[in-house]
Amino acid sequence: MMKISTSLLDSSDRISSVEKLNFTDISYLHIDVMDGKFVNNVQFQDMDEIKRINEVSLVKLQVHLMVEDVSSYLDRFCGLNIESITFHLEIEQDILMNIDKVHDMGYRCGIAICPDTDIQLIYPYLDKIDMILLMSVIPGRGGQSFILDTKDKIVMLKNYIDKNSLSVLIEVDGGINDKTISLVKDADVAVVGSYIVKSDNYIERVNSLLD
Ligand code: DX5
Ligand code: ZN
Repeated sequence: MMKISTSLLDSSDRISSVEKLNFTDISYLHIDVMDGKFVNNVQFQDMDEIKRINEVSLVKLQVHLMVEDVSSYLDRFCGLNIESITFHLEIEQDILMNIDKVHDMGYRCGIAICPDTDIQLIYPYLDKIDMILLMSVIPGRGGQSFILDTKDKIVMLKNYIDKNSLSVLIEVDGGINDKTISLVKDADVAVVGSYIVKSDNYIERVNSLLD
């Protein structure tokens, strides 16, 4: 059964969105941290906001770091009700060091991969991480259209994971709605933002993805 992680990025009132999401069957909240360097946009820099979201939420947070300097961003996430911290394969920092740092904090670790990056570059890390975050849009903003070849990438990754008896999960992020959800059915978790948080009936939208 596919799980839903809801991105709060495009919500006009994030705390009230969390309160409404508490009545739905989502599994996680997805926090898109942006530093204005790895991507142009700047988002979720205020830790008080993240802590407040964490207090109000009934589900754990998944942190998606779209930042260049991952190692200096990690400490601020200590002691929160976090399921996983994910950073990008495309950063210039040492990947293995950051994987260890996330695991030492007691969280699961994900690696995100942009649509234009060769998927095979992630293979050497798959036995060391818990999750792959496959981007189905260019990172930086919500509300974009799902990039169709993501579907083939999910199948490719899944085959590789099965063949090598790995236990890493596949999460897909961007452009997912009731029309595109069928394209990601082989993934474990779907990140869904604007389709849910820009609607006036969260329960109905979440159920339309889980049916
Ligand atoms: C894009 C973010 C996504 C995005 C999802 O950089 O990583 O999480 O906000 O939003 P939608 O569902 O609107 O594409
Ligand atoms: Zn994201």
